[in-house]
Amino acid sequence: MSFFARALALGSIFTLAQCATYSQTDSHTGTGFLKSFTVQAMSDPTHGRVNYVDAATAASKNLTFASGNTFILRSDHTTVLKSSGPGRNSVRMQSNKQFTTSVMVFNIRHMPEGCGTWPAVWTVGADWPSEGEIDIVEGVNDQGPDQITLHTGSGCTMPSSRSQTGTALQNNCDVDASNNAGCGVRVTDTRSYGPIFNDHGGGWFAVERTSSFIKVWFWSRDATGIPSDVMNGETTVNTGNWGTPRAYFPGTSCPMSSMFGPHNIVINCGDWAGSSSVYAASGCPSTCVGYVNNNPSAFNNAYFDFAWLKIYQ
Ligand SMILES: *[C@@H]1O[C@H](CO)[C@@H](O)[C@H](O)[C@H]1NC(C)=O
Repeated sequence: MSFFARALALGSIFTLAQCATYSQTDSHTGTGFLKSFTVQAMSDPTHGRVNYVDAATAASKNLTFASGNTFILRSDHTTVLKSSGPGRNSVRMQSNKQFTTSVMVFNIRHMPEGCGTWPAVWTVGADWPSEGEIDIVEGVNDQGPDQITLHTGSGCTMPSSRSQTGTALQNNCDVDASNNAGCGVRVTDTRSYGPIFNDHGGGWFAVERTSSFIKVWFWSRDATGIPSDVMNGETTVNTGNWGTPRAYFPGTSCPMSSMFGPHNIVINCGDWAGSSSVYAASGCPSTCVGYVNNNPSAFNNAYFDFAWLKIYQ
């Protein structure tokens, strides 16, 4: 953001858009994901029907796979589970580095689809919820479009009218205000999630976080007018040229610097076993737990395929 400092020094406020220029600090592709992220073995903290395995198990079962500019992480799709045993093997990865003011661009070819899947790309601080959470890609059971959500401690609300193309669901980001719903924004473009995202070859999600706002953009692979710095993963990006974001979270009634600490990036390929009403409402067969246990082949398409992730500061 040196341009910003320079512009200020000159006492100039011309072309504010140019202030939003960032330089690439991290570029992850293929095997690079396995070096810069840690595979986290754990039973699912959200109580899904999933068992997150360690790095060696993930590699040996081909639940992580890297080659050239492809990085895949997936759920097991071959094992019938015992109802008394652990959930379906899957992978959760967390970035080794933490980020505050930054731009992240995710170039994703495919995301997990199918009943019982609950994929997510998100960032989170150490002391949840007081250091905040930013959900960039999230949805359940193929139900789109994508939902972008902030989760915070108390004292963070969003104005009901703001410059975004998505639809605000709730404006209080405090997890205690709404049974952890947070302040979500639903993207209006159906290509942003699930089977429709995949049918169009995926696309790009980008998040810009500063001390005064958080913005999230999405471009489908076959959208028109994709900014070239996004499409090509260029070494600098200018978010001032990216147009109205899908979701805009201004800091007007949310002190961003105290609500959001340093964040790690988390990518997980979850399995849903939460609300059975959500599950049934999605038109999914059987009960969720039964379905996850007995239908491994339903998880054939439960995988992320990342072309790259680039981070700018
Ligand atoms: C592992 O997964 C990759 C990506 O889905 C696939 O191309 C490859 O054939 C798999 N390898 C094995 C041994 O199954």
